Amino acid sequence: MTHITVIGTGYVGLVTAVGLADFGHKVTGVDLDTSKISVLQKGKSPIYEKGIEECLQRNIKAGRLDFTADIADAVSRADVVFIAVGTPPRPDGSADLSQLESSMDCIADNARNNTIAVIKSTVPVGTNRRMQERIFKHNPAAKIELVSNPEFLREGRAMQDFFHPDRIVIGTDSQEARDVLEKLYSPLNLISVPFVWCNMETAELIKYASNAFLAAKVTFINQMSNLAEVVGADIHAVARAMGMDGRISSKFLHPGPGYGGSCFPKDTRALAAIGDAHGVNMSLIKTVIEANEQQKMRVLDQLKAMLGSLTDKNIAVLGLAFKSETDDIREAPSLTVVRELLRASARVTVHDPAAMDNFCKVIPNLTAASSSYMALENADALLILTDWNEYRSLDLRIIAEKMRGRVILDTRNVLNKSLIKEYNFIYRGSGYRLD
Ligand code: UDX
Repeated sequence: MTHITVIGTGYVGLVTAVGLADFGHKVTGVDLDTSKISVLQKGKSPIYEKGIEECLQRNIKAGRLDFTADIADAVSRADVVFIAVGTPPRPDGSADLSQLESSMDCIADNARNNTIAVIKSTVPVGTNRRMQERIFKHNPAAKIELVSNPEFLREGRAMQDFFHPDRIVIGTDSQEARDVLEKLYSPLNLISVPFVWCNMETAELIKYASNAFLAAKVTFINQMSNLAEVVGADIHAVARAMGMDGRISSKFLHPGPGYGGSCFPKDTRALAAIGDAHGVNMSLIKTVIEANEQQKMRVLDQLKAMLGSLTDKNIAVLGLAFKSETDDIREAPSLTVVRELLRASARVTVHDPAAMDNFCKVIPNLTAASSSYMALENADALLILTDWNEYRSLDLRIIAEKMRGRVILDTRNVLNKSLIKEYNFIYRGSGYRLD
């Protein structure tokens, strides 16, 4: 049985550990954060992710999955070490690789010969090769093959993405590593998942290019949506018709308050920094980054225009997570918007089905409502920022009863509009006008 150690139990690492254990491998998950490890050892998931806890418990019970904070020991027992540590952005946008470097040094010191090290973390092009060199410099006797295997999972659908990926990308020059990885992922052959075998640099660039393209696609539809509002077009019809063109596809054409999350903002900035470092013009992606910031600020401008002024207004903000089905607020538009609302002396009440605790840790002293309707008590304006399903079924009659004002800014177009006029709401969605 192949013994796998996964360093880092964040979103990517934990899903990888749990998923590989479910394939039937023996997996040890490691993290420096001992509190996280003790939660995991009890079969609890520190992240909110559909299906993960059940899969975690099933594999712990079957004896295939365990967790430890002893990285050196876990590495020394592994045939394959996956590295899924954070690569957070530094102030200039470039990636901070210190966690990756210390993982590499630990592998160089402790791994058995012929161990394969697989980097899952998103890293600047050229990093995998540099890490390979780092291992040999650190320990010239070490015989370790490095593989780049970028992860494309989406939060909220991470388990489903692990078991049904669109593709698996593996960058390596080593035939032995290829054979081991092929075997490791062999359950995916049964469902005919395509494999892309390439060199490390190609694998690294595939990840950045994919995320940057998607971020650009979201930004594109956001700007079309802004235009549609002004010229009297309906962005839903525009997006649907665009999506009928197979070259475009209908996915990622939903307008909103700007993209957020742990990947798009970080990866677009890193890609711009990689371009700069190599003297290659990345003007397109730099424009995407700037346009996304403008899109978040546009929410404030719209709300201000609808209310006259934000000062002393009661604003109910529904939806804090950067998207639905997650408790993650990293780089969420809600952070910018709520901070700016507070700066403008508005009174803010927030609600989110999953992300409230995380949000209130970052922006304390807010009124956190225990239900969406509670958030609306005496509100002058309702602002929806995340496309949670539960907001789709909000009853406008109850909303009208609870609110003292009539302003609704529905940036994700989730509300049922049929009664908007009946209750005299001053309503704005994204990308169309309610006539
Ligand atoms: C993304 C990539 O999809 C994934 O492949 C990669 O590995 C990590 O980054 P994730 O960050 O989980 O995954 O979120 P995703 O579902 O892609 O959404 C990113 C952001 O774009 C969210 O803020 C979302 O609300 C926004 N978005 C997405 C839109 O505003 N409109 C859309 O049509 C799609």
